[in-house]
Amino acid sequence: MEMLEVKDLSVKVEGKLILKDMNFSLKEGVSHILFGPNGSGKTTLISTLMGLPGYEVVSGKILFRGIDITNKGVDERAKLGMIVSFQNPPEITGVKLGDLLKLCLSKGETDEFSTEETKRIEAFRLTSFLNRDTNVGFSGGERKRSEILQLIFLKPKLLLLDEPDSGVDVESLRMIAIEIQNYIESSGSSALIITHKGDILEYVKAEYGCILLEGQFHCFTDPMRIYDDIKRVGYEECVACRRRKPEGWKTEQTK
Ligand SMILES: Nc1ncnc2c1ncn2[C@@H]1O[C@H](COP(=O)(O)OP(=O)(O)OP(=O)(O)O)[C@@H](O)[C@H]1O
Ligand SMILES: [Mg+2]
Repeated sequence: MEMLEVKDLSVKVEGKLILKDMNFSLKEGVSHILFGPNGSGKTTLISTLMGLPGYEVVSGKILFRGIDITNKGVDERAKLGMIVSFQNPPEITGVKLGDLLKLCLSKGETDEFSTEETKRIEAFRLTSFLNRDTNVGFSGGERKRSEILQLIFLKPKLLLLDEPDSGVDVESLRMIAIEIQNYIESSGSSALIITHKGDILEYVKAEYGCILLEGQFHCFTDPMRIYDDIKRVGYEECVACRRRKPEGWKTEQTK
């Protein structure tokens, strides 16, 4: 079964058509990489998949593990196992990071973290942040670390990651990317990862990548090759000259 199927999806934001008749699917147990220039609609896409308000589905369907979620709310999608990490994680005043992490693990406030959980918090270098309000005053990279750890503790089936590598130092990026990879491998979950950079591909094994341009996906192939081509010739030229679409990504041609 596919983890996610998108059929003929068109989306408007503030009355403007951003995504146009998109068709694709995400496979189980696999990471998928999404490239695209600023403003091409990447955040719009994952916000729509998650069901966030303000993203108007004007046509099409979204199926999560065979269930039509097009008209379901954010809470229902989260309960089914979808989760999003934001490009700019919000501050949550009044909620300590430690308590939030316990909530993610379905623990009570007075419960202790297990040895394994404590090790993971240490690996994310967040031990000294547990008594601070979540993300309040955190640096950009610290917010990303906190966000990704929450997400892994929630054990989602589909991770929608909006630039998990932006503003993150090289050591943290390596750690975050390895943790994401380990999670995908051990859980059989899937990920859709938005990035502008190639470094994350050194650690996250992603078979599939594509470019979002002018409201549609293009160039379904090895993400490292896409990244090299984008750097060499730019997004538009890359899309114009490369039309390979391996199995696993359903496209306009195969619907
Ligand atoms: N609330 C909004 N009101 C008006 N326009 C919006 C709104 N949200 C998004 N847009 C527009 O939709 C387009 C797609 O935005 P989106 O944030 O999805 O781009 P992106 O691909 O994630 O870009 P980036 O790489 O910079 O994060 C942009 O032109 C943006 O200005
Ligand atoms: Mg974005």
